[in-house]
Amino acid sequence: MEAVAEPRRVQTLVDAGISRLPSRYIQPLELRPDPRRCGIDVGGIPVIDLSLSAGDPVPAIACASRDWGAFQVVNHGVSSRLLEEMKSVGSSFFSSPMEAKLRFACDPRSPASEGYGSRMLSNDDGVLDWRDYFDHHTLPVSRRNPSRWPDFPINYRDTILEYSDGIKKLAQTLLHMISQSVGLPPSYIEDAVGEVYQNITVSYYPPCPQPELALGLQSHSDMGAITLLIQDDVPGLEVLKDDEWAVVHPLSGAIVVILSDQTEVITNGQYKSAVHRAIVNDHRPRLSVAAFYDPSKTRKIYPAPQLVTENSPRKYREVLYGDYVSSWYSKGPEGKRNIDALLI
Ligand code: OGA
Ligand code: NI
Repeated sequence: MEAVAEPRRVQTLVDAGISRLPSRYIQPLELRPDPRRCGIDVGGIPVIDLSLSAGDPVPAIACASRDWGAFQVVNHGVSSRLLEEMKSVGSSFFSSPMEAKLRFACDPRSPASEGYGSRMLSNDDGVLDWRDYFDHHTLPVSRRNPSRWPDFPINYRDTILEYSDGIKKLAQTLLHMISQSVGLPPSYIEDAVGEVYQNITVSYYPPCPQPELALGLQSHSDMGAITLLIQDDVPGLEVLKDDEWAVVHPLSGAIVVILSDQTEVITNGQYKSAVHRAIVNDHRPRLSVAAFYDPSKTRKIYPAPQLVTENSPRKYREVLYGDYVSSWYSKGPEGKRNIDALLI
């Protein structure tokens, strides 16, 4: 059997004390973060208050979804204690000895396998992201196998379980609001997605010796329905808006909502999935936790018939979600090229 090279974790390069970026991580000129643009603030993605006393959030969700495909929510009902605990167990894992972490290594032969890894794609060429991650399969319950998750710190597994349930409820609430905001019945997108497949990915971006040449995560849109992300206080996440990269400012207690490709298909393009990426810095590690809310692979996704009219003809072909995922992993995520392939 052919041996598969174990991909190196980015953290091992940093621990070895490298001072120059290895060539596999050097982005082509046109994709590098532009240092001259750093500091220009186009206002940042909208922040929406979900507390009852703030009034109906649906109109603000409509604007944010149409203009940005991303927004932050506050007073969302997931306790700050749980958000902090989630980031804290993630960060304890990544600061543990490599030997302990490698007990939970993902399978380097299969893309998107659960566990501790660094490279997402099945193909071996292409520039690598300056990121290590831990991916957890959390829903449906039949996919959950906590013995594959770290057993340190002691509350790691319970925290993932509690976070998975809490964030699923919020994702459903948000999908209801997003459906309503586009004139669909509240449960429309949730029903179209079917049984939810949830993955929780903790991303760890070590300090990078030459951050101006690298990306933590290359430009992409997420492939499922919606992504809910929390980050520590180190900036790095950027969303593309009118051809400019806008920083998503870390906001304590907030959750970043990113609309993903299947929501774009279901809304017949009224809402666009947000193109986003992560940049890195040379002095502080950064941690984020993304919870992906995806259809099952056997689900067919297509534009809501109510949103296909004479004035807004159907824009996307129907797709079996499993086929979409396979294409994503074989072609790579760059920009929006996967969803563009569905355009009629
Ligand atoms: C992702 C993602 C951004 C970040 O995991 O899909 O976009 O800030 N993460 O970690
Ligand atoms: Ni993403």
